Amino acid sequence: MINKQLPKIWLGGDYNPEQWDENVWNEDVRMFKLAGIDVATLNVFSWALNQPDEDTYRFEWLDEQIDRLYQSGIYTCLATSTAAHPAWMARKYPDILRVDFYGRKRKFGGRHNSCPNSPTYRNFSEKIAGKLAEQYKDHPGVLIWHVSNEYGGYCYCDQCEASFRRWLKDKYKTLEELNRAWNTRFWGHTFYDWEEIVLPNILSEEREGKETDFQGISLDYRRFMSDSLLECFQLEDRAIKKHTPDTPVTTNLMGTYPMLDYFKWGREMDVVSWDNYPTMDTPVSRTAMTHDLMRGLKSGQPFMLMEQTPSQQNWQPYNSLKRPGVMRLWSYQAVARGADTVLFFQLRRSIGATEKYHGAVIEHAGHEHTRVFKETAALGKELEELSDALLDSRIHAKAAIVFDWENRWAVELSSGPSVALDYVTEVHKYYDALYQQNIQVDMIGVGEDLSHYDIVIAPVLYMVKKGYADKLKTFVNNGGTFVTTFFSGLVNEHDRVTLGGYPGELRSLLGIWAEEIDALPPEEKNEIVMKETWAHGKKEYDCHLLFDLIHAEGADVLAEYGSDFYKGMPVLTRNNYGSGKAYYVASSPEGAFLQDFLAALCEKKGITPLVKQAQEGVETTERRKGSKSYLFILNHNPHASFFDAGAREKRDLLTGKTVTGQHTIAPKEVMILEESNQTTDFL
Ligand code: GLA
Ligand code: ZN
Repeated sequence: MINKQLPKIWLGGDYNPEQWDENVWNEDVRMFKLAGIDVATLNVFSWALNQPDEDTYRFEWLDEQIDRLYQSGIYTCLATSTAAHPAWMARKYPDILRVDFYGRKRKFGGRHNSCPNSPTYRNFSEKIAGKLAEQYKDHPGVLIWHVSNEYGGYCYCDQCEASFRRWLKDKYKTLEELNRAWNTRFWGHTFYDWEEIVLPNILSEEREGKETDFQGISLDYRRFMSDSLLECFQLEDRAIKKHTPDTPVTTNLMGTYPMLDYFKWGREMDVVSWDNYPTMDTPVSRTAMTHDLMRGLKSGQPFMLMEQTPSQQNWQPYNSLKRPGVMRLWSYQAVARGADTVLFFQLRRSIGATEKYHGAVIEHAGHEHTRVFKETAALGKELEELSDALLDSRIHAKAAIVFDWENRWAVELSSGPSVALDYVTEVHKYYDALYQQNIQVDMIGVGEDLSHYDIVIAPVLYMVKKGYADKLKTFVNNGGTFVTTFFSGLVNEHDRVTLGGYPGELRSLLGIWAEEIDALPPEEKNEIVMKETWAHGKKEYDCHLLFDLIHAEGADVLAEYGSDFYKGMPVLTRNNYGSGKAYYVASSPEGAFLQDFLAALCEKKGITPLVKQAQEGVETTERRKGSKSYLFILNHNPHASFFDAGAREKRDLLTGKTVTGQHTIAPKEVMILEESNQTTDFL
């Protein structure tokens, strides 16, 4: 639990006093206090200020800021400032500059701009992290470390190339092994010397839009880059831990960001934190899924909402304002799904450069009489009153959806069968179907223990890593229900096809084999014709995108294709395996199918919705702690909506009112319904 020193949901965010004159600082503190802000993230982009040259470190400004805030009861989330290197460093040590996808050496500029394998970057970033930790190790105002900022991007420079070769040697030991894994006899790619291997970019194997001629090298390069950046985090983390072993260390992640394997990162972080920037048209269930994914990185431990805008961004094409109430609603959405902090980018809107039109708690007007400030202050008051009630409470889900970055890379790097196949979209379809039915879900990685779940869904499990098929078989054998889809089980972790019929290693578990895969343009469809309909279900549903032509070999056929030359072939199957069941969905179905299908599965497994009934647009989730449960009701609709609060009495933590049975919730409103003697029996 990170909130020990300050036992409430932290409110605050990125604060850049170094961009302002002294006369503004006291005004900042006055307004922070007014808004109930108790945590400021300092020093995110101040490396150049902290270190004017190779041997000089100047932390006086930070001493002053941390002290000043602390004296007013405001704590610091202390960043290490290494997300943008100083100009002098780039000039003196050009090895710190990245080379881009097109092979162009970058000059100084921007941010998140350091080569992760640059000895200069590694040395200087590790050093300053250590110096900061030494400086503030006894400061009672420093609650947590924020290493760098939003790690990401790749580099294609010579030192990355050399490091990649070392990484490959370590992984494959011999070139024979590498040649085999990458299938290099294809297009005459056999390597005879490690030095012959070059990074996959537009000058070699890859083209714009993630296309590659060699999936093996492109996959390994992604793993390597994710590892390289992670090593940079670890270097700073270790340098900090030498001085402050008990202060948690985090770095802010970016949800479903494609370039890093966050499950691997989560293991190395003391607490997961992430930056949530949905657009106005991002489906709320997509944001919910991302929160759940971030919670999943550390097996359900609470996470930090490190950044969100109080009002608008500047970097979208159309930077709509969050409508009144939406900032509060989305803040609680994060809390409802496991966040123990609500932090913003940014506390005061900057005066110049690219983010001056990015929303902030304190706007350019500079006073507290603004909509955004008032909404923040109202939230601040509520969080104060909630105190420590929700802290460290957990979510208990019996259904899980598997998400895996390496699998995602492999799917996205695949040439064929369809450019329209998007891994995250397919995963979200399944998530959304459960979300719409108020079923709590965990988003899990392939490393997660499956034994505490009743249903595990792995959409588009294209890559089956060593041992994973056995893990799934054990799960199903012991009574679990497993669901997977088209384009699953095709390859191993090197993207080499498992021969003998798809879905390869999953074939015996699923009791089917797939002979061919049809791909149609997105506007075309086939039909899923049910042999038996589900309660309230339809006889026929549409399906799109990919269409596996499968044969049952032991599995029961529950539905067949309705048209084309494969009309009558199975599209939904169920195989009894040990004491469990394994389902195969051979195409990408419409949402209604998934809702009916998953509702039927949940009912069979005794997984009940969090509420008996809720109008569409009302989100529900539940956190539990000790003998208490907290049922969150979030009305995303612009109109009042109803839900069924169940027969047992619950108390709304936000209003103190008691709630039972059919209830109406106002537009954009939130309720946190506490119930003692926690039970899942809300029905
Ligand atoms: C990111 C960064 C912040 C800021 C915001 C703006 O999340 O971490 O420094 O640039 O975006 O939305
Ligand atoms: Zn590099």
